[in-house]
Amino acid sequence: MADKVRRIAVSTGGGDCPGLNAVIRAVVKTATSVYGWEVLGIETGFDGLLGRGGARCRPLTTESVRGILPQGGTILGTSNRGNPFAMPGEGGTLIDRSREVVERLRELEVDAVVTIGGDGSMRIAAQLMELGVGLVGVPKTIDNDLEATDVTFGYDSALHVATEAIDRLHTTAESHHRVMLVEVMGRHAGWIALEAGMAGGADVILIPEIPFGVEHIAMALVQRARAGRKFSIVVVSEGALPVGGSPTYRTWPGSAPGGAPRLGGICDRLAAEIAHLSGAETRATVLGHLQRGGSPSPFDRVLGTRFGTAAVHLIARGGLGRMVALQGTAVVDVPIAEAISRPKLVDPEGELVQSARSVGINFGSA
Ligand code: F6P
Repeated sequence: MADKVRRIAVSTGGGDCPGLNAVIRAVVKTATSVYGWEVLGIETGFDGLLGRGGARCRPLTTESVRGILPQGGTILGTSNRGNPFAMPGEGGTLIDRSREVVERLRELEVDAVVTIGGDGSMRIAAQLMELGVGLVGVPKTIDNDLEATDVTFGYDSALHVATEAIDRLHTTAESHHRVMLVEVMGRHAGWIALEAGMAGGADVILIPEIPFGVEHIAMALVQRARAGRKFSIVVVSEGALPVGGSPTYRTWPGSAPGGAPRLGGICDRLAAEIAHLSGAETRATVLGHLQRGGSPSPFDRVLGTRFGTAAVHLIARGGLGRMVALQGTAVVDVPIAEAISRPKLVDPEGELVQSARSVGINFGSA
């Protein structure tokens, strides 16, 4: 396939995260220097192909990616409202503009697209493949919830931010004898809460995979206080939910045309309930987009570089419709369909959770 390719495109879709630029740089360097291909950068995800004045894209060369390895964000811009199969139209309607994407790529003489994104972008990629577009995927998201890869790039950097925040909350919690709650991202997967909580020595971790009982949390905190522990740290995943209840949303499902409803806000509610039930003084901190900002960790720079080069070699081998993935220590490739078959969630009975329980971490349940 390598000799049939002349030009590839690269796009970044969904929420940004540290390491996107490392992937873009690796794609450009490998495609141009190893294969002699041209690379086009599509701006703002697939939105960039649907502009009124034509496609918003630019040639990317070794020169244009110089110095971007340590930079957070994406030099191409991104959007998590840019599904060409469901673009926001007049009066809250959604319109299918996927045929225009196919047409624009044909006009631009693009032979294959490297799409860097999470499950939403991989779903779009799978649908575009059915319309004849050749794509390969690179798994990105701080949530680490994509199946078929052990880890997505961006996750490690987010973990660093969340862990450092927990460390900082520890010292002020201890000084003031408070219960500090910290809400972290992750959507419906508890990876960030679980691993940052474990790394930061949290006392309670609430994840979507293990519904909590607020009375149970309050009792655990009261017992800790009676045992002489004058402060506690509670790490709450934004998607955590009470037994028999639902997650907390900032925008309700259905209220955001073309985009997913936004989770968030559980921490404030829980802080009030815990204060009421336990008598402890509580404070809530929401880390929010701090977890997506800033420079990628060394791990994400290396993983992004490995994923970017592997994606280009995959195109050269004719592996369209596949996504690069990390399995064990090896970068492999898997069908995109496998990556989107289901979200990768924390196993409530798995070794990671058992290990956390063994060191006394409470999950808000029996
Ligand atoms: O998927 C990444 C993520 O950061 C989630 O953890 C979070 O729920 C969501 O995106 C936030 O999206 P937005 O950028 O639209 O606020």
